[in-house]
Amino acid sequence: MATTTDDNSGVVATRPGALRFADVHHVYGQGASANPVLGPIDLDVPGGEFLCIVGASGCGKSTLLRLVAGFMPVSIGRITIDDREISAPGPDRGMVFQQPTLFPWRSVRGNVELALKLRGYPRGERRAEAERLLRQVGLGDAMHRRTYELSGGMQQRCATARALAGDPEVLLMDEPFGALDAITREHMQQELHALWRETHKTIVFVTHSVDEALILGTRAIVLGGRPGHVLLDLPLNLQRDAEGDTHHDAGYADLRSQISHAMDDDYQRSQSEVPR
Ligand SMILES: Nc1ncnc2c1ncn2[C@@H]1O[C@H](COP(=O)(O)OP(=O)(O)O)[C@@H](O)[C@H]1O
Ligand SMILES: [Mg+2]
Repeated sequence: MATTTDDNSGVVATRPGALRFADVHHVYGQGASANPVLGPIDLDVPGGEFLCIVGASGCGKSTLLRLVAGFMPVSIGRITIDDREISAPGPDRGMVFQQPTLFPWRSVRGNVELALKLRGYPRGERRAEAERLLRQVGLGDAMHRRTYELSGGMQQRCATARALAGDPEVLLMDEPFGALDAITREHMQQELHALWRETHKTIVFVTHSVDEALILGTRAIVLGGRPGHVLLDLPLNLQRDAEGDTHHDAGYADLRSQISHAMDDDYQRSQSEVPR
């Protein structure tokens, strides 16, 4: 668990959802077809951090999230959440994918109720909890609709409510706004940031967009190289204006250029590695 100090009161609080990666590697396939795609990764993520991961396609961002989700085992090393080793999916982690993958034969509320059921939530309390979660993501008026009737942004809100079922300590998000139009994306970013301020869950958020990382994160890492590893690790802590925008912070341009340079260097290296 992370230890944080409240400057006003001096009270020391601990936030759950601390992730630790120790010498983590991942290899797809075996023998002659073995493909080492990730590692070594050594990373400490305090509970309550909003960590953004950026990097070129294929550098292992989704693989890293899948390992934290427990969808597959690490090849070498260990990942822990609050000192518990991750070996399978669990109710302490919720995942949101780029495609919302909702069940079309269930209502919006039904999708969230099912997630609560799968997470062992008591039967008699599922409906009220699903409604609370849907209100939290701004879908209070759409609970009874079918998921295919919803816009892309609303479907992602539903997927987020589903990932929040059972109150996980860590929210894993794999380019969740990647398929949305620019205006919807901006709204969704502001809403997600508000959700994080409210809940202070640990969020690990994968994005292609440097600006998205700078708008949302308390920290950004650039993943790259073959196999993928951390090329750059930066605290962000940018000031927000009334609209929640960070562009006006004097440090924005410098952070943006550091991240972009790391990604450009990685791109140049990957081009020179291509066999002729
Ligand atoms: N199930 C899989 N089996 C074999 N190789 C995979 C599999 N999933 C991803 N890869 C390979 O692993 C590398 C990293 O993929 P991925 O984690 O999806 O990258 P990213 O999310 O950064 O685009 C890529 O080269 C990809 O082709
Ligand atoms: Mg990916």
